[in-house]
Amino acid sequence: MVASANHSRPGSDHPAGGRGFAVYLHWPFCLAKCPYCDFNSHVRESIDQNAWRRALLDEVDRAASRLPGRRVDSIFFGGGTPSLMPPDTVAALIDRIAHCWNLEGDAEITLEANPTSVEAGRFRAYADAGVNRLSLGVQALNDGDLRRLGRNHDAGQAMAALLLARETFPRCNFDLIYARPGQSLSDWRSELGQALDLQPGHLSLYQLSIEKGTAFDGTVRPAEEDLAADLFELTQTLCDDAGLPAYEISNHAAPGQESRHNLTYWRYGEYLGLGPGAHGRLLIDGERVATSQRTSPENWLAGDGRSKESVLSVEERATEMLMMGLRLTRGVNGADFLTEVGVPLAEWLDGSSLDQLLRQKLLSWHGEDLAASRDGLQVLNAVLAELLP
Ligand SMILES: C[S@@+](CC[C@H](N)C(=O)[O-])C[C@H]1O[C@@H](n2cnc3c(N)ncnc32)[C@H](O)[C@@H]1O
Ligand code: SF4
Repeated sequence: MVASANHSRPGSDHPAGGRGFAVYLHWPFCLAKCPYCDFNSHVRESIDQNAWRRALLDEVDRAASRLPGRRVDSIFFGGGTPSLMPPDTVAALIDRIAHCWNLEGDAEITLEANPTSVEAGRFRAYADAGVNRLSLGVQALNDGDLRRLGRNHDAGQAMAALLLARETFPRCNFDLIYARPGQSLSDWRSELGQALDLQPGHLSLYQLSIEKGTAFDGTVRPAEEDLAADLFELTQTLCDDAGLPAYEISNHAAPGQESRHNLTYWRYGEYLGLGPGAHGRLLIDGERVATSQRTSPENWLAGDGRSKESVLSVEERATEMLMMGLRLTRGVNGADFLTEVGVPLAEWLDGSSLDQLLRQKLLSWHGEDLAASRDGLQVLNAVLAELLP
């Protein structure tokens, strides 16, 4: 089998063609650690803001010298809590990215924010820095659940932050966590209804997962399987009815409001990850290079050996592309797969597991594209285990 990643589309000047080039910057600090969270996020009494700014700018410069000539489709400040970043650091990073590469005029520039009033006070400055999409971690719309989730904001603050975000940014998303302890179908029906009444352009709706090593591990039980399935189904129905269909397992958008940045991950485009714990998938000389940055903020800032890299095999590329692409309701694009792997998707997957998944209507072909059905999305991990033994 032949690796043929470097097939740019006509007129495109990045190696992943229409799948895009995305830049992710990780800010690893939070005011408090939420008991369910296993993201690379840390609480620190003091942060040397100048050193962090210098180090992140240096990383952008270093990356630019290796990846010349890219057009940047999206930038994402994720965390942790990037709404604790000084706005002038955000501005300096956007300017440096624009200086190093060609930043598309319509590039999507997202910042994740927590909805406390202090952070909302910085929204204007982030917009002035160039952020044009805010992603707010609301998590719940009632005070009891927010307390139980260990959040340091209440529902009133979340609502105020949402309204201000809508006035300040052209595009907004907000995150909710459902399948919380004790949450019934009717609780979620009314809470999601309230969220949809706000007419967001984009909603990320995650089922609570209990992660190893978090404070919830061993103290909170995930929702029973049947209830989780019913909650998922209800979520799809309510969002469809409100004109916000799922385009990925947990992400819903009005037409045209999908996150370009996240689509680059799911379509297996080219993405650069900078900052502690960030991952990237670069396309260099036809190879797919997996990068990961050191997770500890202090070790990362110290500078030595910040990034580890490995070249992925064709099999790894195919597996990753399927794992990411099948999360999308439109599935894995056959033409993109051929570009990435060098073999048509149907040939690559030919086998009895695929036939069985097709017969069970968990997967289906749409021309050369392969997608999971709604039932397939519900049990995607099992589908992938069957498909990619
Ligand atoms: C990087 S995190 C947090 C962003 C921001 N710091 C915040 O807390 O609002 C992105 C999203 O992942 C979701 N999330 C994190 N841990 C989760 C878990 N264990 N189960 C379900 N969703 C989770 C939350 O909705 C969260 O907003
Ligand atoms: S959920 Fe957000 S605020 Fe809470 S610890 Fe994780 S990254 Fe930090």
